[in-house]
Amino acid sequence: MSADSSISTWHPVAPSAELRAGANIVAGFAEGRELALWRSADGTAQAWENRCPHRSVRFTLGQVVENRLVCAYHGWQYAAGNGQCTHIPAHPDMPPPRNVCAKMFSAVEAAGMVWVYLAAAEPPPPPRDDAVPQDWSFCRTLTVRANAADVRDALAARDFTANTPSPALLGALDRIDTAALVLDARPRLAFIHLWTPAARGTDKMKALHTAARGLRGEIEARQSTV
Ligand code: FES
Repeated sequence: MSADSSISTWHPVAPSAELRAGANIVAGFAEGRELALWRSADGTAQAWENRCPHRSVRFTLGQVVENRLVCAYHGWQYAAGNGQCTHIPAHPDMPPPRNVCAKMFSAVEAAGMVWVYLAAAEPPPPPRDDAVPQDWSFCRTLTVRANAADVRDALAARDFTANTPSPALLGALDRIDTAALVLDARPRLAFIHLWTPAARGTDKMKALHTAARGLRGEIEARQSTV
């Protein structure tokens, strides 16, 4: 997949459940971009570049206050939906310049994930809720110190196949049916989001956790030999 084609797709960055409305900020990655994910008080998922426009401090150090994200350094506040700076504490009576805006990316939620689109062009149709089998349970997100292409190759070697038009790969790990979404986080770092028909807490789910760790070990071991 070329850099251009990969940047113009929806990236499965984080499970939706990690974002609490009007509460926390989650660090995310996609294609080498560092993201600040958060959910405004009205429940809308936000995906922003993880840099304050003022002095580039990471937004993930800040806090969410209702529908605003507040930078940790000088307390500048930015509005959900358009990223516009709405308040500068050092100049409380001065309207913030209109050109001071956080960089935002398109974000949608489907199949229990927050998906982010990085390109400036009009996004393609967003993923659907059946991007992974709808009655399957989310197992875990696995962090792998390898390129996403190497992760996809490792899954293909285990006979995982595409579930077009969904980006999910379907197969089995240690004979446990598995759906995998692979995120290209940055060079030599990929995330694998995993689902299975088994319910949480069951032996099969625990076995998938073990199998996933084994998969990661194999992929990372191969990295150290190339
Ligand atoms: S660096 Fe964010 S407000 Fe100054």
